[in-house]
Amino acid sequence: MADLLRIAVLASGRGSNLEALIAARRDGALPIEIVLVASDKAHAPALRLAEDADIPTLALDPRGYADRASFDSDLFERIGAHAPDLIVLAGFMRILDPRVLAPWIGRAINIHPSLLPKYRGLKTHERALANGDAAHGASVHFVTSELDGGPVIARVEIPVLAGDTPAMLAARLLPCEHRLLTACVGLFAQRRIALDGDRVRHDGRLLPSPLALRPDGTLAVPA
Ligand code: GRF
Repeated sequence: MADLLRIAVLASGRGSNLEALIAARRDGALPIEIVLVASDKAHAPALRLAEDADIPTLALDPRGYADRASFDSDLFERIGAHAPDLIVLAGFMRILDPRVLAPWIGRAINIHPSLLPKYRGLKTHERALANGDAAHGASVHFVTSELDGGPVIARVEIPVLAGDTPAMLAARLLPCEHRLLTACVGLFAQRRIALDGDRVRHDGRLLPSPLALRPDGTLAVPA
């Protein structure tokens, strides 16, 4: 099993994206080993999901640290001790110190509920509705020091329907997020994706635009 991609997942809350990765691993759909699930919230449901799946967990309380940099540095030192190949931010609700992040650039991804570069930050569903967008979606991108700003690997798009509320939109998007994240992690597991400067390299070629998740769960390469 030497080829399994070692993943550390950071999550602050519910953990449904983590759950999707655990399920894909269990079903044999993803050749990964989740070596750690870490959280800044001791009561995050994501930690319980990890425990139930016999995955090592770590809860660190930022209030026990002098500043953001010392929290981030301790967190990433502990993550590093598990030697992950990839760090997956899945609902991790903190901005990370660029100095701590620097050694992980290219080896850390985030899932964000908008069609990046639209709507970085919070309240993405509300903002898509307020702007009257016809389509909404989610993106998986490389993490850089810019919040939700790193090169986008892949996106999934869904239509906005008449009468949608933010909650309805979020609920319809969530299962698509799970498929998107799983498909992207699969690319890493197959060593088919890499960061090249500020571009994404897929199967050896620089992508002109992000991959798109098809309804069958596979990723389409842009023409
Ligand atoms: C997801 O919507 C993800 O895109 C965003 O935070 C949410 C996390 O949900 N970054 P969950 O904790 O994985 O259920």
